[in-house]
Amino acid sequence: MKPKIALLPGDGIGPEVVRAAMRVLEACLPVEAREAPVGGAGIDATGDPLPPDTLKLCRECDVVFLGAVGGPKWDAGPRRPEEGLLALRRGLDVYANLRPARYLGLPTPLKEGLARHADILVVRELSGGVYFGEPRWQKDDEAVDTWRQTAAEVRRVAHVAFKLARRRKKHVTSVDKANVLAASRLWRKVVIEVAAEYPDVTLQHRYVDAASFEILRAPHQFDVVVTDNMFGDILSDESAALAGSIGVLPSASLGDGPGLYEPIHGAAPDIAGKGIANPTGAILTVALMLEHAFRRPQMARAVESAAIAALRELRTPDVGGHATTDQVTEAVLRHLSWSRWSTDTEEEPVPAEWGV
Ligand code: NAD
Ligand code: IPM
Ligand code: MN
Repeated sequence: MKPKIALLPGDGIGPEVVRAAMRVLEACLPVEAREAPVGGAGIDATGDPLPPDTLKLCRECDVVFLGAVGGPKWDAGPRRPEEGLLALRRGLDVYANLRPARYLGLPTPLKEGLARHADILVVRELSGGVYFGEPRWQKDDEAVDTWRQTAAEVRRVAHVAFKLARRRKKHVTSVDKANVLAASRLWRKVVIEVAAEYPDVTLQHRYVDAASFEILRAPHQFDVVVTDNMFGDILSDESAALAGSIGVLPSASLGDGPGLYEPIHGAAPDIAGKGIANPTGAILTVALMLEHAFRRPQMARAVESAAIAALRELRTPDVGGHATTDQVTEAVLRHLSWSRWSTDTEEEPVPAEWGV
């Protein structure tokens, strides 16, 4: 049976990069895709950034593929597009957001020798923290957000981080602000408890201010970085400097139901409609989908290699070139068809290693 995909292109460059990445996915596997509005597109269609029918479709599908949401058009409105994305993450209870960032041979702000060894997986807690704590309110002269963190939230994402570390260099850095925040002290305590179940994985703690410096000073010391919702948002964009652009980083948000797959970048209203968005983040998101949702690791590697080979050949403006989204996508498809994973793969899906 063909896997069912809920396609949520969203706003700005979202539809452009989703269209590009779907060409790559369809070259790998036959899929059944159904599209629905989210974010600003949801507000325009129904007044709701996450229309109930969109959430219903996502829950019925095997996987959700989202472009990006947001844009100046909706910034002053009563509802924000970003609300839709947060409600979707909550609605699917995807609690572990995987954001891999590594050196791809692109120019970076770092000295080349330093960036070359960068290979970091940020595992961001996605269902709690200051993004969702109550109460939250805003008046003219005062506003409140609440940073609430439960042990259960920390425990489940920490297990994902340690399990993933076992498939990598077996090193976890937990990032918090335990010298100031109670939520962070709980975070650290629970991570230490979980670490006891993974004696083969080393654990290090870092305060977020120091970590944000170290990621750029000496990225090679990091393997898996596990952190809360807000620090993960910030550190993953920072890690994009190691890869060369936020346009090249993918993400997978995993829970116990359908996963939510999206590039880490936003709607990029400054370049929307120009046909020059970098589709690499979205295409590498397809690779994560092949690996985690469809359990086709070899096919995932083939997509990754094709995306990287295409970048060596031609680049969109964010990474110093003049190529269009379509030209980059076509180069990826060409490399993919040269690799042994053309359309008729016989790879068997691998069994689930962990319950996500
Ligand atoms: P952004 O990621 O949209 O853009 C930041 C900069 O990076 C811009 O100069 C943009 O042109 C560039 N950029 C981003 N993706 C690119 C790509 N694929 N190719 C080439 N260049 C790319 O972040 P922002 O400007 O802070 O936010 C714009 C809007 O997007 C806001 O409404 C924000 O809330 C939203 N946003 C959404 C998501 C999401 O849907 N997951 C993520 C981040 C921001
Ligand atoms: C991201 C974005 C979102 C976040 C926004 C748009 C709600 O920045 O996916 O990184 O903060 O999680
Ligand atoms: Mn972000």
